[in-house]
Amino acid sequence: MAKEIVLTGVTTTGTPHLGNYVGAIRPAIEASRQENTESYFFLADYHALIKCQDPERVKQSRLEIAATWLACGLDTDKATFYRQSDIPEITELNWLLTCVTAKGLMNRAHAYKGAVDENLANEQDPDFGITMGLFCYPVLMAADILAFNAHKVPVGRDQIQHIEMARDIAGRFNHLFGEHFVLPEAVVGEEGSILKGLDGRKMSKSYNNTIPLFETEKKLQKGINKIKTNLLEPGEPKDPNDSTVFDIYQAFATPEQTAEMRQKFVDGIAWGEAKKELFALVNGQLGEAREKYHELMANPAFVEEVLQAGAKKARTRARESIVKLRDAVGLVNFN
Ligand code: TRP
Repeated sequence: MAKEIVLTGVTTTGTPHLGNYVGAIRPAIEASRQENTESYFFLADYHALIKCQDPERVKQSRLEIAATWLACGLDTDKATFYRQSDIPEITELNWLLTCVTAKGLMNRAHAYKGAVDENLANEQDPDFGITMGLFCYPVLMAADILAFNAHKVPVGRDQIQHIEMARDIAGRFNHLFGEHFVLPEAVVGEEGSILKGLDGRKMSKSYNNTIPLFETEKKLQKGINKIKTNLLEPGEPKDPNDSTVFDIYQAFATPEQTAEMRQKFVDGIAWGEAKKELFALVNGQLGEAREKYHELMANPAFVEEVLQAGAKKARTRARESIVKLRDAVGLVNFN
């Protein structure tokens, strides 16, 4: 049976936090170990340029994210791990897709519409500050996916629309030029895969409520100490179902550990104590990977080598596709 192709990208603008680990990195790496899948993971550094015009940030974030995935145990012999910007076939495909994508479809993209709405609310010109990069963001994302004919695309909820757009674009291309593309499907993690942040909302860079994944042990501890709790005193029963401390604990614990902690909440564990236990659990699980991460950060030449090898593998596949697709649209040699 042909293997199922699973592909996902990470926009390289930030530093990975615990929410990224629980929601995306850990499940993706686990899934990539399955025998019946072929995984493609990439650093979406072209997408980063849409949001971030700070070259140092883009450069640093690419290295941090690459080092994080490797430190977390991604097996690059099994999964293909690469930078989007190392695969020129993606930009080539981007153009072929741009030429079959309805402008009306792009008008409906949430990110673009959100930016227009914000301009209108601020009594600005609707196009103020909107680049063609932002407007065409979903086409580039479709190219990322369709270049490898991915079946499944694990993403956060906010990205589902983009996968639907990739399906539309693929369908349009297939209709015009023959059945070249698989129609990709979004895979959204279960509820439990969304970690809460310091303030109880979803942990996200845009809410500024994150706990860093690999910086230092001290910063992890500091982060955990900053988690908002209520004013219940030691000895007073606490509701585990309404606690960020418990939520994060559960994301790292075995079912038995979770049950024990649940009981401790009911028995009125002090917040300080609960946070101490949370820190011990998370730190225990991440300590080794953190060390590996810092080793990798200190050795960018090694990370580069890994990514170059990944790019080579990815390009071989993307090249095969693009040769056929060029042919399909009429870009053929005369002899
Ligand atoms: N836009 C995605 C995000 O911000 C990242 C991304 C880019 C992506 N290309 C992709 C994800 C292709 C899945 C498939 O999260």
